[in-house]
Amino acid sequence: MLEKATDFIMQFYKENKQEENKLQERLSQIAHEIELTGSYKHTTEELHFGAKVAWRNSNKCIGRLFWNSLTVFDQRNLFREEDIFQALLQHIRFATNEGKIRPTISIFEHNRVRIWNDQLIRYAGYEVNGQIIGDPASIEVTKQCEKLGFIGEKTRFDLLPLIIQVDGQMPKLFELPKEDILEIPLTHSAYKWFEKLDLKWYAVPIISSMGFEIGGITYEAAPFNGWYMETEIGARNLADVERYNMLPEIAEGMGLSTKKVSNLWQDRALIELNHAVLESFKNQGVNIVDHHTAAQQFKLFEEQEAKNNREVTGNWAWLVPPLAGATTHIFHKPYDNTKKTPNYVYQKCPFH
Ligand code: ARG
Repeated sequence: MLEKATDFIMQFYKENKQEENKLQERLSQIAHEIELTGSYKHTTEELHFGAKVAWRNSNKCIGRLFWNSLTVFDQRNLFREEDIFQALLQHIRFATNEGKIRPTISIFEHNRVRIWNDQLIRYAGYEVNGQIIGDPASIEVTKQCEKLGFIGEKTRFDLLPLIIQVDGQMPKLFELPKEDILEIPLTHSAYKWFEKLDLKWYAVPIISSMGFEIGGITYEAAPFNGWYMETEIGARNLADVERYNMLPEIAEGMGLSTKKVSNLWQDRALIELNHAVLESFKNQGVNIVDHHTAAQQFKLFEEQEAKNNREVTGNWAWLVPPLAGATTHIFHKPYDNTKKTPNYVYQKCPFH
């Protein structure tokens, strides 16, 4: 713990050009605190810096150009489920900002708070006599919600309630107020029939299952968000066979035969679905980035990091967009997937 703490604190003082004697003072204070209590408490400034650097170090993220604009809410003083829920609502409202989405993280005390949902906003998934309604990715967490009293309407897009657990006690369930959740119905300007598919998606992806690892401490509840890249919705969430599997219906609407994969009906349906996602978000004034622009922004990030004498690490398989991969520069070079800290990390599922 002390070694990891020291590494982080040294990085904090170095990047923020703080005085050497202050660094030494903070290091000996932390050493003392760890000796007495087995752990230490980050200052709010350390936490703010660490959360930003954790984003900068996220090898799978193409959106890292904006790492330094992250808004950080230090919520380590909240231990009542209701208060934590209110803080999460505040996060949703602040981040949504009527569509002008703000990258935001809320950090709760480690070893005490856990959010069972993998994103703050997600659609339920139900297995009803052999058929799946809603998001198949949410089946397990939906079951947990039902155990705690949730009765969904069983539409394809039921908002899941939040499950909040404090100190390993029985978790508590909280419904999200509909008016706080910005959603975008999908339309396509060239295809009148598209809106009849009744598709929509939510505006803000807020990952709530990953831990925030900093200086030897992992904050298990630290939900964070950016804005969407359109392929996340149009090439994965609504397109994957294992998710909403919409490509066959879209191809049919386009009048394409789905009999032979070789006529590229999937590819053509994908393009129109992604076009619809971009267009619908834009028309409603909700921030979203297309994969070409995101790749250009990532290029700027790489240049910016080089100027600051930092190596960019990355996970090629995640950084290359799932559409038109080879049109981006990312496709054409290798990335070093070394994991730096601070970072955001996967954690054990809290209910398995
Ligand atoms: N891919 C996830 C989803 O479709 C969201 C992951 C985070 N994405 C982001 N743009 N910050 O819901």
